[in-house]
Amino acid sequence: MRLSKTDDARHPASLDRSLVLELVRVTERAAIAAAGWRGKGDEKAADAAAVEAMREELGRVHISGRIVIGEGERDEAPMLFIGETVGAGDGPEVDIAVDPLEGTTLCAKNQPDSICVLAMAERGGLLNAPDVYMQKLAIGAGYAPDTVDIDASARDNIRALAAAKGVPVAEITVCMLDRPRHAPLLEDLRSTGCAIKLISDGDIAGIIHAVNTEETGIDIYLGSGGAPEGVLAAAALRCIGGQMQARLILDTDEKRARARRMGIEDPSRKYSVQELASGDVLFAATGVTDGSLLSGVRLSRNTIKTSTVVMRSWSQTVRWIAADHQR
Ligand code: FBP
Repeated sequence: MRLSKTDDARHPASLDRSLVLELVRVTERAAIAAAGWRGKGDEKAADAAAVEAMREELGRVHISGRIVIGEGERDEAPMLFIGETVGAGDGPEVDIAVDPLEGTTLCAKNQPDSICVLAMAERGGLLNAPDVYMQKLAIGAGYAPDTVDIDASARDNIRALAAAKGVPVAEITVCMLDRPRHAPLLEDLRSTGCAIKLISDGDIAGIIHAVNTEETGIDIYLGSGGAPEGVLAAAALRCIGGQMQARLILDTDEKRARARRMGIEDPSRKYSVQELASGDVLFAATGVTDGSLLSGVRLSRNTIKTSTVVMRSWSQTVRWIAADHQR
């Protein structure tokens, strides 16, 4: 699959480009570990396998890394918890966001689009988001900045997007998670006559698909999903282009306090893609199960095949890496 290029303003290249390949090793290793749990109905075991493999491989990378998006807070996650230091400790100070197994249910059921994901940025480059829901909106590159707005109704956004694209509303396709909480949004969208692609899980791939309209036919991503996945998707968009707006859903005192502890002062702030992931950013994802973004891990007698996409914001390079690993 081809991805579009971004017009994102150039920023200094602060991350060594050889780190790109290091990230590939990390997500490949996690995907191979998770692949052993495909279709076995055990989400926890699949996730744990990916986490352990990812952490071990990260330990070999010459960085002084700090997890800012991870498996949870220190007391609830034994590995890759928020604040954990990772890497060999002998390289640049970087922040890291991980989703060792995005789509744990997809992996446990051996359904499409389960992937292992990692993003890296210079220190302070990734929003330290708590594990709460995030409202998300994403469209491709090439539209005026005010074409759509997360504060407008879905109906208005669809109409505005159709007008900007010069097509009838019926030719706009929205991607969103299939969730009961989205029933009002779905009803609003259906009243416009647009097409809707409902996905069962995996909104990082959903957002990437929405900016890659030519390949996927998806024009816009809407709805709420995990905030960590939102930051990871923004890291990818910094490399491939497209617009994204997001807002944390901090609807209880406990969540607002948690966000404050992570440095978020304004609970209703609207974030742009650059505010979610800034500076030089790297993003890598390896397929676990076959999907629309990546092929899954293929096991044969002597080799293991993996399929990875790795991107860098500074150079806007997107590499598709098909690797054969000896068993
Ligand atoms: P997991 O891999 O943690 O199961 O996340 C899958 C996912 O679909 C994400 O892509 C998405 O952001 C989130 O779950 C949505 O959360 P929920 O399932 O609670 O609606």
